[in-house]
Amino acid sequence: MKTILLPVSATDPAAQTIVAAVAQISAGQLVAMPTETVYGLAADAHNPEAVARIFAAKGRPTTDPLIVHIADQTQLATVAIDIPALFFLLAAAFWPGPLTILLPRHPDLSTTITAGFDTVAVRMPAHPVALALIRACGTPLVAPSANLFSHPSPTTAQHVMHDLTGRIAMVLDAGACRIGVESTIVDITRTPAVILRQGDVSAEQLSTVLGDVIVQQRTLATNQAAPAPGMLLKHYAPRTPLTLLRGPVAAIQHAVVRMQQTENIIWLCYADDAVCAARAGIATIMLGARDDGVQVARQLFAALRQADAAGAARIVVAEPTGAGVAAAVRDRLFRAAEGVFTQVE
Ligand code: TXA
Ligand code: MG
Repeated sequence: MKTILLPVSATDPAAQTIVAAVAQISAGQLVAMPTETVYGLAADAHNPEAVARIFAAKGRPTTDPLIVHIADQTQLATVAIDIPALFFLLAAAFWPGPLTILLPRHPDLSTTITAGFDTVAVRMPAHPVALALIRACGTPLVAPSANLFSHPSPTTAQHVMHDLTGRIAMVLDAGACRIGVESTIVDITRTPAVILRQGDVSAEQLSTVLGDVIVQQRTLATNQAAPAPGMLLKHYAPRTPLTLLRGPVAAIQHAVVRMQQTENIIWLCYADDAVCAARAGIATIMLGARDDGVQVARQLFAALRQADAAGAARIVVAEPTGAGVAAAVRDRLFRAAEGVFTQVE
């Protein structure tokens, strides 16, 4: 299959481009679409063959459920039932936006989408192209991140092409995603609500609406039997081994310089590391200012892909500081390091 790459305005998508994408979705094909978080691989949620194609194209295990994307709340009618009152408060506060909400599954919704679970994950993305496409299709769209299974999520159309060219019908290229890490996932079918994945909508923000919220503990071993979906630490791992350093900035810099003496490393560094790196002749990829979680989140997955392609023996990185989306970045780094920190003093 030849994958069609179509440029599209991120703010004002041309009708003819959306029509071309709708034709593919209606024919049961897969279209990668931009969202404000990462690129998603979209298919008609009510077409079982199209849903099956998603798992095949990504090489994704059928035990990992998909998020259903909607453009307005009337589209919930065929997706979820018994919607709790809290849902409407959350939707009013955070939709459209980077928040995925677990709801009781509609009995007619394919259990392939939910991997056999009684809950369905639903999100209304805040991206004009995604919203225009869902609206024009007139059906909810399932959309996992548009990467090969276990690769970092794609934040540009080029990342999608790298992973999926020849395997999907079309990619809508609206440039780099604004947020850069996947949506926050919250389960409100339990009390108190549980955050299953951290994202741009923080635990603090959610608790203003929900009161008590629990952040689900990350799975520490990759070989545990049937961890909760999406909790696999290995999930975000680049192919190159990654060392995650923790400690004071000076101690981290000192440790990286020492590592460079014995190994061919690439350093995902912060602005205040640049002088140290240049002096020691260490190859770097710049993530931004250490305390600028927003900027670091935008760079993270592109940086991991670039680091993987650099051919170094090891990737070295430290955590960004601060609250908000920086917490989601720390979560993704922890997973990329398969749950291992190296503490330096
Ligand atoms: O930002 C995002 O959420 C992006 C964009 C494209 O919307 N999508 C995304 O989808 O990250 P995906 O499939 O890569 O990740 C969805 C996560 C998976 O880890 C899956 O296990 C979890 O959501 N999930 C989906 N349905 C679930 C359910 N019923 N219960 C628990 N977890 C669920
Ligand atoms: Mg994914």
